[in-house]
This record gives sequence, C-alpha cells and structure tokens, in this order.
Amino acid sequence: MTGQFSLLQVPKVEFGAGSLKKLSLYLGEGRVLFVLGRTISRNPGVVSILKSLEETGRSIETAIISGEPGVSVIDEISSRFYGQGIGCVVGIGGGSVLDTAKALSVMLHHKERREDPALSVKAFLEGVGSETAPPGRLPLALIPSTAGTGSETTKNAVISQVGPDGFKKSLRHDTYLPDVAIIDPSLHLDLPLEQTAASALDALTQLMESYVSVKSTIFTDSLLLPAIHSTGKALDALLDTGELDNLAFRSDLSYGAFISGIGLAHAGLTYVHGLSGPMGAVHHIPHGVACALLIAKINRAMVESAGSQPEGQRYLSKMSAIAQGWGVRGPQGAVRFLEELEKKARLKRVRDYGFTDEQLIELSHLNCKRNSPVTIPRGRLEEILLSL
Ligand SMILES: [Fe+2]
Repeated sequence: MTGQFSLLQVPKVEFGAGSLKKLSLYLGEGRVLFVLGRTISRNPGVVSILKSLEETGRSIETAIISGEPGVSVIDEISSRFYGQGIGCVVGIGGGSVLDTAKALSVMLHHKERREDPALSVKAFLEGVGSETAPPGRLPLALIPSTAGTGSETTKNAVISQVGPDGFKKSLRHDTYLPDVAIIDPSLHLDLPLEQTAASALDALTQLMESYVSVKSTIFTDSLLLPAIHSTGKALDALLDTGELDNLAFRSDLSYGAFISGIGLAHAGLTYVHGLSGPMGAVHHIPHGVACALLIAKINRAMVESAGSQPEGQRYLSKMSAIAQGWGVRGPQGAVRFLEELEKKARLKRVRDYGFTDEQLIELSHLNCKRNSPVTIPRGRLEEILLSL
C-alpha cells in the first residue's frame, strides 16, 4: 500500500562534469564571498572561475577553511566581513566547508540586520542556543568537492565545539537550503584515496540508514535503493582499481552523496549517525571516518538482532534487496560487502584519534537509535565501540 509521505523542497540542482561553469548564472548582487577548502582553492577549474569573475568586474573575497566548522571560526569570519557589502556566499569544498558557508550566509545576513557584529552563531544552535534560528540568509550557492555529506541539499549546518563542554549541533531552518547546488564530479578527480573512501562511506551510510529507517516511504525507497547499488559498486571498483581519476566512478559517488542528502532529510538516520555525531564532539575524528568504521559492525549487529523484533523482517528484506544489487546474497552478504569496503579503504582506527575505553563505554549509553527499525542491545553496542 502506498502510505503517507511529505515531499520537502530541494534546491535548484546542476549536476554533471563541467557544471561549475554555470556558477555565474546564479550569483546575486554585491561582493561575492567564496568559502573554500584549502585543496580545492588551488584546483585549476576553481582558480579560472574566480579569475573570470574578477575580469568581468565582480568584487570577490575569499575565506579558506580547514577542519570541521566550529563556533569560533564562524564568529571570526562573519565579524571580519561585517559591513563589507557581501551580497552572496559561494561554498566550494567538503561537507565541513559547505556547512561553514551555509552558516556564514546566515550570520552575515542577521548581523547586518541587527547591526550586531558580535552576534554568535551559538545563539541559534539547536539545544545550546538562546534563540530559535531565524529565517533568512544571503543568497547561497554550494559546490561539493567531495562526495559525502550531501550538505548541498539540506537545510542545516552542523557546527561543533570540541572539548570537555563539546557539542555538535545543527543550525537549522527551512530557508537555509541553498539557492543552487552545483555538483560537478570533475572537481573530485584529485581527491586522495583516504578522503574519497571516508566521504563515500559516509554517503553510503546515509543512503542505507534512510532506506531502512522507520520513516522511509515509497518515495524515498525509489530514490535510495538504486543509489545504494551504484554507490556501493562504484566505491568497490574504485578501491579495487585505484583509479581515482575515473570520471564514471566519481559521477556515481557524487550522485549517491546528492541522493543521500535528500534521503536523510526525508527519512532520517539511525545508529551510525547517532554515534558518529557525538564521537566528533569528543575528539577530532573526521565524520566520514567514524561512519566508515561503524557501518559494517552496526549492520552485523542489526542483522543478528532483527529476527525477534517487529520491524525486523522488513529490515532483513531491505538488506536482501541491497545485496541483490551488489551481486551478493542476503543480509549476511550485504554485511560482508560492507566489511570488505571498510578493509579495502584502510582508514585509521578510532583509537588513533585518542578515544579511551571509558569514552567509548560512555558513548554506548547514549540514546543513539534514532529511526532504526531494529534495537541493538546496549551490551552489544558497548562491544562494538570497544572493538573500534
Ligand atoms: Fe553523515
């Protein structure tokens, strides 16, 4: 039976190799603030776009970002450009850079409106801020340089503060969805293996979590299953061949990341993101690495626990449908495929980022199930976390 569902807004999207060239069609008035990742700022395609804009008389400012978006970074950059006539923001980079650009488009707009250069983004963050995030931002274009978070199609920016009082919270409002997402896989050809694998495993996790979610619908299923198949196969082939500059693989991974943003906005996520978010607030572990190290283990535990639970059969049949597209058999085959991907990606381990047994046990006590169709016993979660 076709059940109820709501269809949310997605931004205008330009997808495909060479689509970066369309950026000038979408720029608003005034000075343009380019928020760039360090590596992508040297990409010949990006350098040439900036140069051609300057040649046509556009006034351009740039902010180079490294690491995940923190409160202090966003406050510092938005204060620096306060009163400078910034008319629109363009983010080009990984998920962290895109989230930073999104937050800057919000903060520059509201600092100017309130004439308050000291206004902090922390005031608007869910769960820690004193105010509800207000509507409105500067015109915003987002251009991912990795195929991971799908931030280019979501209405929130994840902002963190690392340390004893650390948090990882969202700046969220329907109006924060960008005006345009330009997804150009040819920008990803230089991305190193580790970042490629971690980003792709984040996207694959988001696709799978929203596909099995209790909030999934006929609409999300129809988008997510083919994207899970193509993303899994493209990553597997890329890791086997080492062909980082293969545009066909890059295009499939970009499409998967794009669809994963739509999937999580409509159907939500489950355990892996319930844990990887809080992990990022404890130590500087890249989000994609945390997801990559958890996805196979969490799904193995869900397959083991599914049999006796009300939504268990539905979860197992969805895992079988995933397995079929990957050319393996049944839920166990799908889990083994994920284990192989993790092994081939050769990422650093969770302990390499400084996690202690105590911190990992504490994480197992969190309410991290979110929209999972299957409950994993707490003892089993603790075992998984200690094995990372
Ligand atoms: Fe994610």
